Amino acid sequence: MSDTPVVRVGLLGCGHVGGALLQLLTGHADDIERRTGLRLEVTHVAVRSVAKERSVVVPEGLLTTDAAAVATSPDVDVVVEVIGGIEPARELLLSALKAGKPVVTGNKELLANVGTELFEAAAGSGVDLLFEAAVGGGIPLIRPLRESLAGERINRVMGIVNGTTNYILTRMTEAGAGYVEALTEAQGLGFAERDPTADVEGYDAAAKAAILASIAFGVKVVAGDVYREGISNITAADIDFAHRMGYVVKLLAVAEAVGDEVAVRVHPAMIPSTHPLASVRESFNAVFIEGEAVGEVMLYGRGAGGMPTASAVLGDLIDAAHNLTAGGPGRTAPLARASIRPIDELSSQYYLNIEVADRPGVLANVARVFGEHGVSIRSMEQEGLGDEARLIFITHTARERDVQATLAGLRELEAVDRIGTLLRVIGPE
Ligand SMILES: NC(=O)c1ccc[n+]([C@@H]2O[C@H](COP(=O)([O-])OP(=O)(O)OC[C@H]3O[C@@H](n4cnc5c(N)ncnc54)[C@H](OP(=O)(O)O)[C@@H]3O)[C@@H](O)[C@H]2O)c1
Repeated sequence: MSDTPVVRVGLLGCGHVGGALLQLLTGHADDIERRTGLRLEVTHVAVRSVAKERSVVVPEGLLTTDAAAVATSPDVDVVVEVIGGIEPARELLLSALKAGKPVVTGNKELLANVGTELFEAAAGSGVDLLFEAAVGGGIPLIRPLRESLAGERINRVMGIVNGTTNYILTRMTEAGAGYVEALTEAQGLGFAERDPTADVEGYDAAAKAAILASIAFGVKVVAGDVYREGISNITAADIDFAHRMGYVVKLLAVAEAVGDEVAVRVHPAMIPSTHPLASVRESFNAVFIEGEAVGEVMLYGRGAGGMPTASAVLGDLIDAAHNLTAGGPGRTAPLARASIRPIDELSSQYYLNIEVADRPGVLANVARVFGEHGVSIRSMEQEGLGDEARLIFITHTARERDVQATLAGLRELEAVDRIGTLLRVIGPE
């Protein structure tokens, strides 16, 4: 009999990610043993329905619907949660952690909303709670940020962390598609859910932004701290204008150190077409890190999909198994609550388009409103629309609060028919 230590795995969920993980654990078992000196053996697989047909072969006798029993089972050393959602995942993981079992999860919703409770339970039992797959799917992000860049002073982390919206914006940019057309295409290809709200309104990216900010700055940030806007108001005209000015429109998750505070936000932004993030197309994800000593680092890859995500889960599982056999968790210092800088106090350049009556004096009135709020205009373009005109502005760097006051002032002008998209513009003036 082999004397290789065996680490027994309780798998909660066997869908896209769980099924792919089972395949990797079977197919890569010898490589894992050779490289780590450990054998990972799945002892239970909890699912919602045992009868359901699966694309992966689950060894006889492993499937069960009793996830709670798996989470605390005496023949499970490490629990992997790939069910998703908050309940019952939260209850299951709390009971596993309290029973002294390390946990691996890919559940961003859970971590961004009730992560504190789970981290406290992990710290209380002195076990690992690892979650590489929760942000950027298969891209190693959490470990590089937490370990390789542990001594780095990070100024900003800026990422494309939602594949659905990046696919939609890529189609709008490259095929000239409108928002609805691009969304419908993404749904047809399986890149967008039938109810796309979580993706297109930025909720999914906000959960990931909270996790990234927590890791990058070593403070506790929750989903509710993240300012959020989605992409559903972006028009083909915005994309076209951005293109003409040398920009690309992307949905960005931005976490920034501002003095002793942290600013975390998700919104569409115009980035220079020469910026590395501008070349991240279709459903790919990437995170661009700016550190004081290291300079700029970009991590790029598949942000979703069963196999890429399972690859990240497997890396965590091996780490947790290694720590368990070596006698202790990795570094899991408890985090203090972040002090959040509100969006109102941040500054950026802005793109704004408005539709106005095309008659003398209107432009002067519009310019006066900008001036009254101290927002200085960097460039202005005018397009004729029959009796109306579309005015497109790019501002110099201005405070969000002043820009919002400008919008309120513009809405009061009788000649302004419609306030269109407001986008932050990233990059030098
Ligand atoms: N898919 C991705 O590309 C991706 C990327 C990054 C992160 N993630 C995260 O990974 C997690 C799993 O995603 P997924 O795409 O693999 O989901 P999925 O395909 O919907 O699989 C969910 C699994 O959980 C099982 N399940 C649901 N409720 C359960 C319960 N009460 N008790 C026991 N098992 C239960 C389901 O059982 P049945 O099979 O019997 O229905 C299914 O096997 C989520 O947190 C997701 O956010 C996924």
